[in-house]
Amino acid sequence: MAKTMLMAYAALIFALAGMPAVAQDAADPANAFNRLLDPAAQRNPPPAEDGIHDPANAGTRMLQAPLEAFGPLPKRNSGNRVDWVGAQASGKIRPRWNAADPKESAAALDLNIVREVKGSMPDVVFPHKQHTELLDCGVCHPAIFEMQKGANQMSMAAILLGQGCGACHGRVAFPVVECRLCHSRAKKAAATGAAAVGRQARR
Ligand code: HEC
Ligand code: HEC
Ligand code: HEC
Repeated sequence: MAKTMLMAYAALIFALAGMPAVAQDAADPANAFNRLLDPAAQRNPPPAEDGIHDPANAGTRMLQAPLEAFGPLPKRNSGNRVDWVGAQASGKIRPRWNAADPKESAAALDLNIVREVKGSMPDVVFPHKQHTELLDCGVCHPAIFEMQKGANQMSMAAILLGQGCGACHGRVAFPVVECRLCHSRAKKAAATGAAAVGRQARR
């Protein structure tokens, strides 16, 4: 009872402030970043309640619920809570490369692209391997990224707006909260040769 009233007040305050209430936002795909804040009970709802499938269609009820399908897969603490790269590496999922030919497999490219980051965050390592085990080159090249190291402007601001890495990360792949998965390489302090940087690194 008290909780209901509190929620009503919260909704009123948000309405007065011209902001949508949190409960509405969570279901609004226009602000996908807020999916990170979903309480446990709202994660991976069954198809009839996910806002994507038509609940009136009998076929919707025949689909396997994500929670059931994801149960045996390795876990992650964000997004849809599955470590998809781990699931594929351990053979728990075997996505078909070609829907018509079960024998065809991905021609993965083992090429890491290191993007040096200004400031204190570790550098970003983009691994072609994990991506090309799942995606065709043409998914990224050239529409999302020119096929040349350093040719593309990248920033966190752009990623949060859904550009570059953000075309997928935060939408269909692990979200931006997982800083260390992208910022995975320690900076090479010595490479700059600057005394001031050296001093800072030793501290
Ligand atoms: C998920 C997105 C994605 C996919 C899929 C992808 N790439 Fe890339 N590729 C990148 C990014 C990001 C860069 C780095 C661009 C930059 O630094 O500006 C890059 C860079 C490259 C480069 C330049 C390397 C260099 O040293 O200049 C080549 C070559 C390349 N990719 C080939 C491929 C091929 C071949 C495939 C398919 C087997 C592929 N890529 C699939 C994202 C992708
Ligand atoms: C999906 C991959 C990815 C994730 C996740 C990610 N970053 Fe980044 N980050 C990047 C890329 C790419 C750049 C741009 C690197 C460059 O300049 O070439 C970047 C740049 C940065 C920069 C440099 C300034 C800027 O905005 O360009 C900071 C600081 C930063 N990230 C912090 C973070 C923090 C904190 C998190 C976690 C909350 C995070 N990043 C998560 C990919 C990621
Ligand atoms: C076209 C979609 C797409 C783009 C663009 C993209 N990624 Fe990914 N990325 C994926 C998918 C799908 C996965 C595998 C599923 C997952 O881990 O969520 C993945 C996985 C990864 C992994 C491996 C995580 C692990 O568990 O080993 C890293 C690291 C990563 N992405 C970084 C980046 C960075 C950095 C960029 C931008 C330079 C980027 N990605 C751009 C789709 C994309």
